[in-house]
This record gives sequence, C-alpha cells and structure tokens, in this order.
Amino acid sequence: MKKILITGALGQIGTELVVAMRKAYGTGNVIASDIRPSPPAGELAEGPYAVVDVTLPQQIADVVKQQGINQIVHLAAILSATGEAKPKLAWDVNMSGLFNVLEVARETKAAVFTPSSIAAFGPTTPPDKTPQNTIQRPTTMYGITKVGGELLCDYYYLKYGVDTRGVRFPGLISYVALPGGGTTDYAVHIYYEALKHKHYASYIGKGTFMDMMYMPDALDAIVQLMEANPDHLIHRNAFNVTAMSFDPEKLAASIRKYIPEFALSYNVDPVRQGIANSWPNSLDDTAAREEWGWNPKYDLDAMTKDMLAQLKVKLAL
Ligand code: NAD
Ligand code: SER
Repeated sequence: MKKILITGALGQIGTELVVAMRKAYGTGNVIASDIRPSPPAGELAEGPYAVVDVTLPQQIADVVKQQGINQIVHLAAILSATGEAKPKLAWDVNMSGLFNVLEVARETKAAVFTPSSIAAFGPTTPPDKTPQNTIQRPTTMYGITKVGGELLCDYYYLKYGVDTRGVRFPGLISYVALPGGGTTDYAVHIYYEALKHKHYASYIGKGTFMDMMYMPDALDAIVQLMEANPDHLIHRNAFNVTAMSFDPEKLAASIRKYIPEFALSYNVDPVRQGIANSWPNSLDDTAAREEWGWNPKYDLDAMTKDMLAQLKVKLAL
C-alpha cells in the first residue's frame, strides 16, 4: 500500500495533486504538507496535513517515520521569478530542501518524485525540439538549482538505490490555485483577465515561445511516472515532457475563438523576458513517450475551452 507525503502541497500543483492522489490512493494515505500553518478551507483540508519546512530535516524525518511514508512527492520550491529576486532563498529551499528529502528517503527507503523544469536549460541549449540529453548551462538561480536537483536525484539512485523519478515540467496552466512566482505565469493570468476585462497586457513579449501544459496532464504525468515499471526507465529524473508550445499571440488567438473581442497588449518585464529568452521554444519528449507512455490529452484549444469554462464558474461570471 502506498503512503505518500507531498511537500509544498499548498502550491499550484500540490493543491490539485493532493485531491487527485487521495481519490486514487485513499484520503488517509496522502499527507499534505507545507511551510504554511494550515491548508485553506475546502477539499484540501479534508485529509491529513502536517507543517513541514523542507529546510529543517528533522521535520521531514518525523512525519515520514511517524506516518510510515514510502513515497515522497517533493514540490516545495521557489520558482524562477521569485528566485531571481531572492537567490539565497531559492538556493536554500531548492537545494537544501531536496538534499534533506533525499537523505530521509535514503534512510527510510521511500521513493521520491521531484519536478525539474524547462528552466534547467539555458541560452546555449538548442532551443527547438530540445533533446532529452543536451547542453544545460542555465543562467537563473532557479535553473541552477533544477540542474543540481536532477544530478542529485541521479546520484541518490546510482549511489544508494533510492527510487528517484522526475520530469522537466514546462509552464503549467491551471484554474484552481494561482501560480507561485514563475515566468510562465502570464499564461494563467491572461485567462482571468480575458474573462474579467477582455484585455491583457502581457509581460512576456510577442514571439516568445515556451512549452506549456494543462494541469490535468501534469497530474497524470506524476502518477504515471511513479507507477511506471522501473525496468523500462532509462532516464529516471529529468524526462522532458510537453503538451504544447505557444507565444502570447498564439494564446490570444485561441482565447478569441471563445471571446472574439479579447485584446492583447504588451508591457514587457525585462527580468521575466530575459528568463524566458534563455529557455527553449519547444522540447522533444520522445524519451518520456517511449519509456513510460507519456501522452498528454490537452492541446491549446482544448485547454482554452476548459480553462474559460472552469474560470467562469470560479469567478461567478
Ligand atoms: P508553488 O510556488 O505554487 O508552490 C510551492 C509551495 O512550496 C508553496 O505552497 C510554498 O508555501 C511551499 N514552500 C516554500 N518554501 C517552503 C519550505 N521551506 N518548506 C516547505 N514548503 C515550502 O510551486 P508549484 O508551481 O506548485 O511547483 C511545484 C514544483 O514543480 C516545484 O519544484 C517547481 O519548480 C516545479 N515546476 C512547476 C512549474 C509550474 O509551472 N508550476 C513548472 C516547472 C516545474
Ligand atoms: N513555470 C515555472 C516558472 O516559470 C517553470 O519552471 O518558474
């Protein structure tokens, strides 16, 4: 029986992953945790919760041992834009936090899922159909911690036999929780603004293509990879995964299929634009498709249709 601890569970991914995993594995078998004192009222609060600061190894060890955890989904992190504003915090949470999780997993023989990111690539990476194995010289603190994390997870697998697995997520788009300080967040905010004001001023410039994915596919990726037969896994910790690639113009065109009067303008933020410029335009995710059957369900228009329908309900419009 699986007994799962999710760190950083109150963030954009965790808010939905906790609920999905509780449906799949049983409410009592999925412990949500975060540095924040309690979950917000709602579905997430209807199950076990622990305060775990991942920079404090004892807090992780206590929950894992007390609850008999055998799988850790490690989501606690500082994302790209916040990481550029607070690089030391990003280093401490992303690197020390992961190290602490891996040490507890080594001791308790728990499996570990850790997401990497398109941020693990940099300006010298081939930007189109970026291969699985290629140049990784990121220029952001977030990206540095993501490459370091990929290598650290490989190390714990090779040296100690810890069952580590992970994917390089692209920008994730969702309607339940707002994104937590990334560069791709514009692709979430645009939907809220399209519905509320029929206009969005994008901080990412025209022609800036990045990989993206709708949250239901991201949740499937985590569960599918953790359920995959380990004998079929060659890469383990840093699978390229993607569902679509677009720039603000292409995204706006998709929204106009449902809101014809939607207008897009630009107010480019040099920091986030600089980060976006250093990331690939599109990933090659063949390895994930071949090794564990990755196959996303949502393309851009299917995602737009669902996002707008769900947000209309959420915003009571
Ligand atoms: P998020 O910022 O929405 O949530 C992160 C959570 O971590 C927050 O709830 C925060 O309170 C918590 N946290 C911060 N410091 C902590 C600490 N010291 N101890 C415990 N919890 C702490 O992030 P997310 O979007 O849910 O991302 C989760 C993971 O997925 C991260 O590793 C991120 O790099 C990766 N990822 C996300 C995206 C995306 O678009 N959302 C894309 C690629 C990779
Ligand atoms: N969505 C994330 C970010 O922009 C990618 O890792 O930081």
